[in-house]
Amino acid sequence: MTEKIKIRGRQVLNGVIPISGAKNAALPLLAASLLSSEKILLKNVSPLADVGTMLSLLGEMGVRYVVTDDSPYSSTIELHADSINNFVAPYDIVKKMRATILVLGPLLSRFNECTVSLPGGCAIGLRPVNYHLGGMEALGAKISLKDGYIYAEAPRGLKGAEFEFPTVSVTGTENVMMAAVLATGKTILKNAAKEPEIVDLASCLNKMGAIISGHGSDTIEIQGVTSLHGVDYLVIADRIEAGTYAIAAGITGGRVDLIGGNFRELLPCFIDKMTQAGLIFSDIDNGIRVISSGTIHPIDIETAPFPGFPTDLQAQSMAMLCLADGTSNIYETIWENRLMHVAELSRMGAEIKVSRCDQTCVCHACVTGVEKFQGAPVFATDLRASFSLVLAALAAEGETVLDRVYHLDRGYCAVEHKFKTCGVTIERIKK
Ligand code: EPZ
Repeated sequence: MTEKIKIRGRQVLNGVIPISGAKNAALPLLAASLLSSEKILLKNVSPLADVGTMLSLLGEMGVRYVVTDDSPYSSTIELHADSINNFVAPYDIVKKMRATILVLGPLLSRFNECTVSLPGGCAIGLRPVNYHLGGMEALGAKISLKDGYIYAEAPRGLKGAEFEFPTVSVTGTENVMMAAVLATGKTILKNAAKEPEIVDLASCLNKMGAIISGHGSDTIEIQGVTSLHGVDYLVIADRIEAGTYAIAAGITGGRVDLIGGNFRELLPCFIDKMTQAGLIFSDIDNGIRVISSGTIHPIDIETAPFPGFPTDLQAQSMAMLCLADGTSNIYETIWENRLMHVAELSRMGAEIKVSRCDQTCVCHACVTGVEKFQGAPVFATDLRASFSLVLAALAAEGETVLDRVYHLDRGYCAVEHKFKTCGVTIERIKK
């Protein structure tokens, strides 16, 4: 039974949206539960399909957990990893969600062994994990690859070391940081990722008794400890969800109050760029107000690691820039295949030319603004692309039916509910 979403065009977003806990913070935090035998309580976890996938893997390993739904868009998860009896992350779970690779560091660190399926690529790119493995080897792990699995062991435990990431890697930094927290001695991670989700993970690990400093900068120091205790921790707001709904206000000519975090701090470059594109931002209590100026101006965007423009907001921004009063350039520098939404947006009337560029960026989209989108049957190719099509459909003339909605549910919760409270209706239909 596949689900589709039917969207009537010419809708205007106007209201207040509570932003849920960050998917890309919750996933490493859930994996971190493997590091302690005491109770881990994670609050403000968004009830997403990806969270469910990570929980199913943890459950297979012997983690006991209870999920309490606090609202349609927030849950609390209690986890106990005091009787782990299985150190294998099987392919049938890992292939569903690559971030399950994040169990590698914790299992190695606490149990000195694990077998984790290689995640393989996904729609947006090959997504290798060589930096993850290189970091583990730097800490003294023995890694071998066989039949699509990573066999990792550290019979004498992990030892602190210095490791420099060849290029910035978000989950690579998270994985090696979690491996280092129970290693003997000091670890220094260079060219580390600086994303807010890294800071959130390090803050939680420190609350569990780890000794981590420098998180948020490109050099993170971890002083190994012998064990970590339990924690009660609130997950940070999802900056990518917030940016997505800010664009919803921009593309529909509306306004929205985004509640739940310091988004000016979480989205510095995005807010600068969207201000140039004609959105008006003002700070409000525990959030930010976004108002459309009524015109969408063309801008140039180059995706980059934090604090640069988030690649996870590239597809959504492109949808809005298709309606700008001029030509915009989007340079995707992180993922080699993250322009699949172009074909679907073009079927709705967008004018976009794509070219491969030189080594500085992976692909370039030249977006010439058009008068309007035309509603059409379209399909989602990946998580963020799926929402770019929803955004285009809200502004379009006529009706759009979006297929492969499971992509959307991986990273956005309670979308119908959040839109409905802002005067926008989208209808889920089971085909
Ligand atoms: C994280 O993916 C996010 N996922 C992605 O969000 C996000 O797009 C990405 O960071 C970049 O910000 C989670 O946090 C769960 P990387 P990750 O390792 O960690 C290369 C979403 O929509 N690389 O920072 O997998 C890689 O090919 C998802 O929520 C290696 O070469 O990304 C890429 O070009 C999509 N070898 C670059 O580094 C490695 O071992 C950045 O990748 C690791 C990465």
